[in-house]
Amino acid sequence: MTGPRTLAIDIGGTGLKMIVLDPQGSPLTERTRIDTPRPATPDALLAALTQMAASHGDFERTSVGFPGVVRRGVVYTAPNLDEGWSGFDLAQALQDALGRPARVANDADVQGLGVIQGQGVELVITLGTGVGAGLFVDGRLVPNLELGHHPFKGSKTYEQRLGKAAQEARGKKKWARDLLEAIDLLSRIFNFDTLYIGGGNAKKVERMELPLPENVRLVDNVAGLLGGIKLWETPTGA
Ligand code: BGC
Repeated sequence: MTGPRTLAIDIGGTGLKMIVLDPQGSPLTERTRIDTPRPATPDALLAALTQMAASHGDFERTSVGFPGVVRRGVVYTAPNLDEGWSGFDLAQALQDALGRPARVANDADVQGLGVIQGQGVELVITLGTGVGAGLFVDGRLVPNLELGHHPFKGSKTYEQRLGKAAQEARGKKKWARDLLEAIDLLSRIFNFDTLYIGGGNAKKVERMELPLPENVRLVDNVAGLLGGIKLWETPTGA
């Protein structure tokens, strides 16, 4: 193998996931997962990530998908983690903790980088604890879309209707009905060529065999980690 190995990290509201990838994005270690520590403060997460990284052998750089708004490595929001994240320079902190350069971007944006074709308008939504979204035009990212916090159906937001808590509270059937309605609305707003649905709950959508439009694809949550390679293919990251 030639070229740098990347430690790819996916920070979620429920779980922290990690894997080492070769330059082509093939796994070099087993993917590991632990529950997100609570309270999910910067200190608690950094300690957990540092400990996890120790079991992944050697790597030259780190990529992180983070569940909030991230600009140039600095976190602005983290709705499903902790208030202490606002203004936290996660790229710098990880670089200091792991001793290798680190890049951090919004988790849905990283997921998108791992699955898009780079043609036309491609929208990625992630269904997990929160609801994330990444928009790409001919492969170029419009970062930090934050669609999850936009209104959807009355007084609630996409995240309040399609996030994990909503699914648990209202049951899968109603959740699925709302999802189909959201897909229809999003297709009329963005006129996407392709919509990708990822995140931990994409699996459930697959199992439910919903009647999805033909330009909608379900993608494996592992893409959240594979996109980490792509973060290093531009001069500054996402
Ligand atoms: C956050 C997004 C994130 C999404 C999925 C939302 O609550 O605001 O930034 O992409 O959750 O984790």
